[in-house]
Amino acid sequence: MCGIVGVLGQHEVAPMLVEALRRMEYRGYDSAGIATLQDSRLDRRRAAGKLVELSDLLVHDPLPGKIGIGHTRWATHGAPTVGNAHPHRAGPVAVVHNGIIENFRDLRAELAAVGLTSSTDTDTETVALLAQHHMAQGLDPVAAARRTVDRLDGAFALCFLFDGHPDLIVAARRGSPLAIGHGEGEMFVGSDAIALAPLTNRLTYLEEGDFAVLTRDGVEITDTAGTPVAREMRTLAPDTSFVDKGGHKYFMAKEIGEQPLAIGDTLAEYLREGTPGVTLPEGLDFSAVSRITMVACGTAYYACLTAKYWFEQLARLPVEVDIASEFRYREPPMPEGSLAVFVSQSGETADTLAALRHVAGQGVKVASVVNVPESSIARESDVVLPTRAGVEIGVASTKAFTCQLTVLAAMAVRAAADRGTLTEDRMAQVMAALRAVPGAVNQALSLASDIAGIAAELAEAQDVLFLGRGALFPMALEGALKLKEISYIHAEGYASGELKHGPIALIDPNVPVVVLAPMDRLFDKTVSNMQEVMARGGKVLLVSDGPGLERASDGVWKWLRMPQVDPVFAPIAYAVPVQLLAYHTAVAKGTDVDQPRNLAKSVTVE
Ligand code: F6R
Repeated sequence: MCGIVGVLGQHEVAPMLVEALRRMEYRGYDSAGIATLQDSRLDRRRAAGKLVELSDLLVHDPLPGKIGIGHTRWATHGAPTVGNAHPHRAGPVAVVHNGIIENFRDLRAELAAVGLTSSTDTDTETVALLAQHHMAQGLDPVAAARRTVDRLDGAFALCFLFDGHPDLIVAARRGSPLAIGHGEGEMFVGSDAIALAPLTNRLTYLEEGDFAVLTRDGVEITDTAGTPVAREMRTLAPDTSFVDKGGHKYFMAKEIGEQPLAIGDTLAEYLREGTPGVTLPEGLDFSAVSRITMVACGTAYYACLTAKYWFEQLARLPVEVDIASEFRYREPPMPEGSLAVFVSQSGETADTLAALRHVAGQGVKVASVVNVPESSIARESDVVLPTRAGVEIGVASTKAFTCQLTVLAAMAVRAAADRGTLTEDRMAQVMAALRAVPGAVNQALSLASDIAGIAAELAEAQDVLFLGRGALFPMALEGALKLKEISYIHAEGYASGELKHGPIALIDPNVPVVVLAPMDRLFDKTVSNMQEVMARGGKVLLVSDGPGLERASDGVWKWLRMPQVDPVFAPIAYAVPVQLLAYHTAVAKGTDVDQPRNLAKSVTVE
């Protein structure tokens, strides 16, 4: 989604702003711009498309100045044109904005009535016009910005820059994250710690409703009521992992390859040396839990769907799983004994955060599985279960997903222990299976070259189906999502047994069907469903393990031998071939693997 940066510097800021925007490219965007003050005069440059367009523009038409704001825009209101790109300007005010101003139409009409008309399709321009209006009424820039923010409905992060005020940036946070960066005689603001990483590692995260006035000497923060507040300044460990692709063509390839290590690091958080069983953060005891509600979006939602099988089978705990955007408005009752679990890589997904707030308001215990420990979702949870995936840059989630699965698997094992639902022998097997996950994932990675060959043919398909049973059903959904996202091939995932209830009508020799079938108690049933596909001319790619694979693969189009894993956590290993299939298909098609069209990494609008 959109990225914001602001710099009150000692040197020329345009290169710093562009570099910060470059570091936020992974979030997804379709236009970019910066504004600075030179000799106290406000000016801006904006470009549609990728950041390189803005850089080119700045080469021919530089923008000097030691104070400035910048933005990458993921279009919500209005097409991704130069005119709609941020910063938006109205008279002496320039504004960059993440999120959505829900009442912008009313405000626009109000402003038009006093002669301040909009010239763009965006909601953001209304913010600039409103601030201009307040300044014209005699308010100073800070008071004008404050009054403007007070009039806005919706979820947003904003930064204001004012003509004639070379030592002032105003920032406000409601719903979208913003961090203040502290330098030596310099101050920064950004929507992402990654953006500010080369500038400073001393950060203060704004809280909901905070309003911040930055000068080169520091920052003054007030809360919604206008009362000055002290927010903790944290020193983050420098993280340079995102900077290079580690010799890979795309971040996604690097991140797929990092999974054994990332999963190992994540497991180390929950399987502590010298402590038997699974260690969870304090405050999470499953003996008092009678049901779990899990909420997330996209790939994280599929992690929850997978975990439902684990919690139910291992710990005999009923689990309900919901898409965050549906959950909140469905208003489900949360009876006593409920535990709500929110899963999010970014920890900033607007729908998931809103669902969390909906539940927290009902006094239910809130646990979150997040990859960004400073995120809003982490900060607003009673218990935080971190994934240790490290920074994930590829828009399509890979290592964050398998680390989410790992944490959820560990939680399910601990739930089984707390509730005494497994025999000692079975518990020992399950613990061994959990410890074996990084190794299994590592072995699955060796399928990469076989998969690249298959993907070259898959790239010709118009439609692809993915089938799986039991805990592999969510992996079929994930396989289809990954393929759609980065190769733009239409794909759907189905529970294998469901095919004959409708989707089998789609089968013809041009529709490849990927069958995910570990050698578990459902294997024979899945193979029967696969035969039904082949009997209708379907072209099957069978992904399986075990000694019976050759026999089962008789007549299939292609097959891939997976490492033998305990079926209980097989879905984590099976994530690898579906990721690789999507990745290599996208490479074969020549799409933008790391930044697929229309997608954003962190979806901070509802
Ligand atoms: C798909 C993908 C998305 C995210 C979803 C939730 O590859 O990455 O579907 O999983 O937008 O994002 P987080 O986990 O940040 O809440």
